[in-house]
Amino acid sequence: MIAKISGNSKVSGEILVSGAKNAALPILTAALLSSKKVELSRIPELADVQEMISMMRYAGVQVSFKENEVSLIVSNLKGDISDFSSKIRASILFLGPLALRTGRSKVPYPGGCSIGKRPIDIHLNGLKKLGFEVSTEKDFVEAVLTRQFKEVNVHLDFPSVGATEHLMTTASMMKGTEVTLSNCAKEPEIVDLQNFLNAMGAHIVGAGTSKIHVKGVSHFRPVHYEIIGDRIEAGTYAILAMASGGDLIVKGITPSTLNFVDDLREMGGNIAIFGNSMRIKSSDLNPFEVNTAPYPGFPTDLQPQITVLACKAKGISKITENIFESRFGHVPELKKMGANVSIVGQTLEVTGPQSLHGTKLIGKDLRETAAITIAAAIADGSSEIENFEILFRGYERVVEKLNRVGVKIVVS
Ligand code: UD1
Repeated sequence: MIAKISGNSKVSGEILVSGAKNAALPILTAALLSSKKVELSRIPELADVQEMISMMRYAGVQVSFKENEVSLIVSNLKGDISDFSSKIRASILFLGPLALRTGRSKVPYPGGCSIGKRPIDIHLNGLKKLGFEVSTEKDFVEAVLTRQFKEVNVHLDFPSVGATEHLMTTASMMKGTEVTLSNCAKEPEIVDLQNFLNAMGAHIVGAGTSKIHVKGVSHFRPVHYEIIGDRIEAGTYAILAMASGGDLIVKGITPSTLNFVDDLREMGGNIAIFGNSMRIKSSDLNPFEVNTAPYPGFPTDLQPQITVLACKAKGISKITENIFESRFGHVPELKKMGANVSIVGQTLEVTGPQSLHGTKLIGKDLRETAAITIAAAIADGSSEIENFEILFRGYERVVEKLNRVGVKIVVS
């Protein structure tokens, strides 16, 4: 799919953010543990969510998904879904819950964005500590619960978001076992997952801190739960507003999750938060130094987008990527547009201000494609972005939302 973007946009008006993709995916897999009805609101209609739901249907779950509402009942689950060809990394989150519900799980080896090696050792080591026997082949991973302990301590080698969610979810349904997870990731989506599981009757405390304590239970009750707003989508549109010199109101945010707003203010963002909205007004951009880090650090999922801001700021900015080893796929594309960016190890050195010129671009990874879309929107002249559909993995109704705030974009 190709997007034609006219350039020279100055965004204005309002954008409503959707529910958080990174909350929806783990919450959907956690629902596998319940035999009661689960109803979820604000689930974004995204390619990644559709794929997760297809995978759940493949496992035997009855799912209805319309107008951002999901309703599901889990019965007659099958544990072997290894034939399902999965492109999303979050598919690994099926492993523990499916093994608990069916006795043995066999899931496809996870895919995901092309942003470097993305191993699953922390997931698997954690499951082994919980009492699972785990084996991996080239294309699939298998797990079976062989031992059950009264008390387990699991220290994560790195605060992996997915592994924290996977182990917390699995442990929640292990009646008779108390699990303490340490060095956990603290992302707001993990807190949302805890709130969801507890609403079903789980006993979990500590999400949002580095130590999470889970007391396993044997069954859950029916639940209706609304997930949080997508902070990365909100941040992406805030960055678009800053880069374009516009005046934008981003609605539907969950303010407590937006830890990066102070960083955006230091970069020159004139940002006011009121209720569940934030207003971003145009102002001069400052050069900055940013290091991505696990929450509450600056999110890696906004690193490609702020590179565009650095191109427009007067002076030298330095952006260091500490989470993923190769998340600089946007750099060659920005260079094609005239950006002055060099890659020094894991750091980008960007000299601005630089005019960006519209040209032919290629999207490779979700957030990198978001970055080049922002660049194309503010460039002199029009651009064409190949593989634009990658954006549909993480940005709901993105073409409609952008058109409404003044970015002229047509896809074919
Ligand atoms: C989640 C987010 C993704 C975000 C990332 C980091 C979802 C669906 N996706 O991905 O948008 O970019 O957090 O904020 O929530 N690692 C290992 N071994 C493991 C697991 C991870 O070495 O077993 C490494 C990864 O290679 C990576 C780092 O840890 O370098 C962070 O990964 P992780 O926090 O697990 O990210 P995801 O959960 O995949």
